[in-house]
Amino acid sequence: MTRRKAAILGSSGMIGQRFAHMLEGHPYFDVVAYCASDRSEGRRLRDLWKLADVELPAGLSDAEIDATNPEALAREGVEVVFSGLPSEVAGKVEDECADGGMAVFSNASAHRMEPDTPIMIPEINHGHLRAVERQRERRAKGGFVVTNANCSITGLALGIKPLVDSYGLTDFSVATYQALSGAGYPGVPSIDVLGNVIPHIQSEEEKMNAEGKKILGRYEEDRFVDSPVNILASCARVGVRDGHLEAVFVRRADVPDAEGVASTLERFSSRPQELSLPSAPVQPIIVRREQNRPQPALDCNAGSPERAKGMAVTIGRIRVDGEDLRFFLLVHNTIRGGAGGSVLNAELAHREGLT
Ligand SMILES: NC(=O)c1ccc[n+]([C@@H]2O[C@H](COP(=O)([O-])OP(=O)(O)OC[C@H]3O[C@@H](n4cnc5c(N)ncnc54)[C@H](OP(=O)(O)O)[C@@H]3O)[C@@H](O)[C@H]2O)c1
Repeated sequence: MTRRKAAILGSSGMIGQRFAHMLEGHPYFDVVAYCASDRSEGRRLRDLWKLADVELPAGLSDAEIDATNPEALAREGVEVVFSGLPSEVAGKVEDECADGGMAVFSNASAHRMEPDTPIMIPEINHGHLRAVERQRERRAKGGFVVTNANCSITGLALGIKPLVDSYGLTDFSVATYQALSGAGYPGVPSIDVLGNVIPHIQSEEEKMNAEGKKILGRYEEDRFVDSPVNILASCARVGVRDGHLEAVFVRRADVPDAEGVASTLERFSSRPQELSLPSAPVQPIIVRREQNRPQPALDCNAGSPERAKGMAVTIGRIRVDGEDLRFFLLVHNTIRGGAGGSVLNAELAHREGLT
């Protein structure tokens, strides 16, 4: 299989560096350009490496950062773009790449709510990929943008999908405890968050509901139809490096006992697993039965094989009291909720013949 020439936008940031790590030696994609802003142009990846849990792959140490220039990427023959740009920059740059014929897999929110742009989580809505056919009609050279969701809704949507399908649940309440890396680099000032919890993340609660409805909804007759699911969220920033913990509550839930719910979650499997996509976790939802799990420090890298580390969501403390269901859920925000989500989307698009 020919590997597609790829570029990473935002290579000096939290998401861009996860891309660099996850795409090293990838069977489908060959990264030929690492881009960031003019501020980082000419610097080496080794001088900008920010991930504490993984080594910069030796082969990337000398990789030089380019300024972000969609025309130059097109000239270089780049076919696939992985974007870790801030939203305010991503809208224009990603459009220019897609209009130049490239397949763009974005982490930014800029295009998420467009009527022909999917917010993909392939285990949930692989059929939404069809929307890019409509998008290609308006882009001169057949390029397109596929987005992945906000990091906190990614974990929640994966965790509730089997419950929505099996038990018809629609009303979820969630309180989040979100990691610092979710705010990018350097993120929240240390003096604000050290020994503290900040009970506000700009637009996060609204995004969780709006994106959740689109992700869990249907794509039919060339349009997205929202799911009836409602997500009532309260979001907080906590002094954790990686991993968003979420406490989920459902009232009047017609569900079996806790073990029955656990087994429904553990059995969940979908198209990425059928296709054995390289970054697909063998088991997308892992249930822990210990009383003190999941924990960000212990569980945020859940998932196997090696390429899918951090791609599984972990659920624990499942409690069914009368008609009320509660559990905790953990998602790695920069892997499954970030770069890894885009890589999985690109792998699916590649296998579906779109790249
Ligand atoms: N962090 C997460 O958990 C997470 C999860 C899901 C989605 N996202 C989304 O992913 C995107 C990236 O987030 P992040 O956390 O990686 O942010 P970040 O750490 O702040 O990194 C931003 C990157 O964008 C580059 N950049 C900034 N302005 C630019 C410009 N004008 N032109 C070209 N490049 C520019 C930066 O380059 P310089 O270093 O040169 O400035 C840096 O490489 C955001 O849209 C965010 O909302 C983040």
